[in-house]
Amino acid sequence: MITSSGRPRPDLTSEAGLAAVRSDFPILERTVRGKPLVYLDSGATSLRPEQVVEAESHFYREYNAAVHRGAHALAEEATDAYEGGRAAIARFVGASFDEVVITRNATEALNLVAYAHLNSTLDHRAGGSADPRFVLAEGDEIVVTEAEHHANLVPWQELARRTGARLKWLGLTDDGRIDMETLDVIGEKTRIVAFTHISNVTGAISPVAQIVQAARGVGATVVLDACQSVPHIPVNLRDLGVDFAAFSAHKMFGPTGVGALWGRQDLLDAMPPFLTGGSMVEVVTMESATFLPPPARFEAGSQATAQVAAWAAAVEYLEWIGMDQVAAHDHALTARALEGLAQVEGIRLLGPPDAHERIGAVSFVVDGVHPHDASQVLDNLGIAVRVGHHCAQPVHRRLGAQSSVRASFGPYTTPAEVDAFLEGLATVRPFFGASHG
Ligand code: ALA
Repeated sequence: MITSSGRPRPDLTSEAGLAAVRSDFPILERTVRGKPLVYLDSGATSLRPEQVVEAESHFYREYNAAVHRGAHALAEEATDAYEGGRAAIARFVGASFDEVVITRNATEALNLVAYAHLNSTLDHRAGGSADPRFVLAEGDEIVVTEAEHHANLVPWQELARRTGARLKWLGLTDDGRIDMETLDVIGEKTRIVAFTHISNVTGAISPVAQIVQAARGVGATVVLDACQSVPHIPVNLRDLGVDFAAFSAHKMFGPTGVGALWGRQDLLDAMPPFLTGGSMVEVVTMESATFLPPPARFEAGSQATAQVAAWAAAVEYLEWIGMDQVAAHDHALTARALEGLAQVEGIRLLGPPDAHERIGAVSFVVDGVHPHDASQVLDNLGIAVRVGHHCAQPVHRRLGAQSSVRASFGPYTTPAEVDAFLEGLATVRPFFGASHG
């Protein structure tokens, strides 16, 4: 297998260091419309290094067995690869092995927590013995923020609708930060506070400690959407003081189709399953079943085995670069993009103008030009950006935009690529003329 071990740590501030990283990403060799690919859509999904592609195919070539089933050698090796992947993921976010539940994606991880509350509430109302920490009463409150992408909003809307709880939210400032003057939305009736660590639209970094403190003050459960933070900054979930966190592999060099829920052990122990079936049961009769302890309790059915094994390779790759360095590189690119955007006429930035308050993504509106048209011009130059509402309509509505253009970065992104994007962007309005719109 190809690994990063034994190679000197790359210095992302040097051209040679960046070139060493980029040489691991075969897709960066391809051209788009005759131009070198400039990939600025890592917020949607990152590129994958050869080490990860290799690790996934290595699983199929060498083990190719179902995990936690069978006693033959391949089954054992496959199980070791899968559980080794879990161990690597846990290490990466400062968690214990048993606290990491493998899910289909971050959306499923967030739904798992929401459904645990729904199922417990229904059980309680039917006279069952659900753990009271997961039971909601009519009038209880669930608090989110206006910055959430749909994965961390709609499950809570549905939970509120089905239980009679009320959904409330922290507002945003005009420059897209969580408005801490609205923190008193968290009150005595708040049972759950769910918020994003880093906005996928504005890149704004949330004041986690303050929100956690307010939530703890009223005994609420805290759920963190860490989709955009785990790939970009060092994250220790325990140190953040939250109860649950969700993130996904595909935004951090890993395979598609797999994500994780981290949960505090005592909560996971008490939590009812979301999906039921094989792999999560102890004893099954025709009438009923008993369930395994976590994390297996929450991993019904066949697991994403090759994907978890390859996710470990993604973690090792990020550890090889070093998350401090990943974050510093992302910050530098964000600052460069913000400075450049301020020079381009007719651009309205969404989110804080100060690079210290954000990381990884810059979204903006081009005056008089639809985002899809702007993207077309950039695409003709080989530059891939995301356009639309980025699965976060309420943020856009709050900031007075229907949709936006977003450039987002990864450890393989170069300052020259940011410059190429800025130069391309400067041609967009002239291309369409001032009256376009
Ligand atoms: N949350 C993903 C993105 O920002 C879908 O692109």
